[in-house]
Amino acid sequence: MTHRTIAGGEPVRVVLAGAGSMGRAWLSTIILAPDVELAGVADIDVGAARSAVAEAGHPDLPVGADAVALATAVGADAVVDATVPEAHHPVTTAALFAGLAVLGEKPVAATLAQALSLAAAAEVTGELFMVSQSRRWNPQLFALQAMAGDLGAIGTLTTEFFRAPHFGGFREEMDHPLLLDMAIHPFDSARFVLGAEPVAAYCEAYNPPWSWYAGAAAATAVFEMEGGVRYIYVGSWCSPGAETSWNGVWRVSGEKGSARWDGDTEPVLDADVQPVTRTPAPYSGIAGALQVFVDALRTGATPMGEVHENVPSLAMVEAAVRSADGGGRVLIDDVLQQAHEQALREETRADVRAALAGWTSVRHALTT
Ligand SMILES: NC(=O)c1ccc[n+]([C@@H]2O[C@H](COP(=O)([O-])OP(=O)(O)OC[C@H]3O[C@@H](n4cnc5c(N)ncnc54)[C@H](O)[C@@H]3O)[C@@H](O)[C@H]2O)c1
Repeated sequence: MTHRTIAGGEPVRVVLAGAGSMGRAWLSTIILAPDVELAGVADIDVGAARSAVAEAGHPDLPVGADAVALATAVGADAVVDATVPEAHHPVTTAALFAGLAVLGEKPVAATLAQALSLAAAAEVTGELFMVSQSRRWNPQLFALQAMAGDLGAIGTLTTEFFRAPHFGGFREEMDHPLLLDMAIHPFDSARFVLGAEPVAAYCEAYNPPWSWYAGAAAATAVFEMEGGVRYIYVGSWCSPGAETSWNGVWRVSGEKGSARWDGDTEPVLDADVQPVTRTPAPYSGIAGALQVFVDALRTGATPMGEVHENVPSLAMVEAAVRSADGGGRVLIDDVLQQAHEQALREETRADVRAALAGWTSVRHALTT
């Protein structure tokens, strides 16, 4: 999809929406980023915005309750949306229609239907909307993806994720904390490593007896990916002892051998192939996502994480949840189709509804 570009010369002026824990990480990242200027911070709790800028050593930065009103008032070019998932759809829609590009936190939106609405809003406005899926921007994951390309045909990709965090708060009250809040990262990385989109999901999610979560803190999901490769995710958020890294432990099993990654150190290739020396990927974490976003605004190139490209990661989550809730084997095309119908029912903007109605198929709309 083509998007509006911003000529070089002056830094890209950004307003940060959301001054919570992730917003504060974004605040320091934006301040340090080359070719970017922090133009203001907004939070519905203005006091949170005020204390965040003060703590960052910029007490005079403009703050406000409404990110788009603030961005318009200070003449910003873009919004970084680090609000809660429920606010992603309203904040990003308003920003795009105000002529602002958006770099949004994962998940793209609280529901797949809202994610499709945002993809259509990006089409209508011609503004760039990229999702920062921070764990994809990891040079070690890029190395694993390159190794996967050396293994010939791929049969199986696995991720094991076992940790025991006590977050308190909303995660301990959700029905599917692991699938909804965390598993989107490895699901998104699996699409990247395999270069393949999901076809179907089967998932069991459950809560071990000692769990301190109300909802399902453990899950096993099997995805059929394009080409018949299986991606298998086994995870638990109430698993003390021998914890994996936050990225999980990965194995790619292919025709010519295997590649393994512990999620913290360089991946290892064990295969009957000539080792290839590669330059490490230059992008890392949210700073990497911001750099890619700014490059895309300057050049017009479509970045990885552009909303259409990101949506299938959320579709994997919704398919896994539906399967775990008794849906058996769930086809991703069915999940996308039903989300499209829901988006058409719920859409309040006529121009966005018309764009959604013009899609001949959701898969096609997401890939062209
Ligand atoms: N990439 C990662 O590794 C990672 C890690 C943690 C959180 N996240 C994501 O970051 C986002 C924020 O998570 P968090 O942990 O910082 O949450 P949080 O609850 O700590 O902070 C969210 C902030 O958004 C504000 N807010 C809510 N609605 C708003 C609106 N309409 N306009 C402006 N501000 C609004 C809240 O007042 C709050 O201060 C979520 O989407 C979450 O999934 C990503």
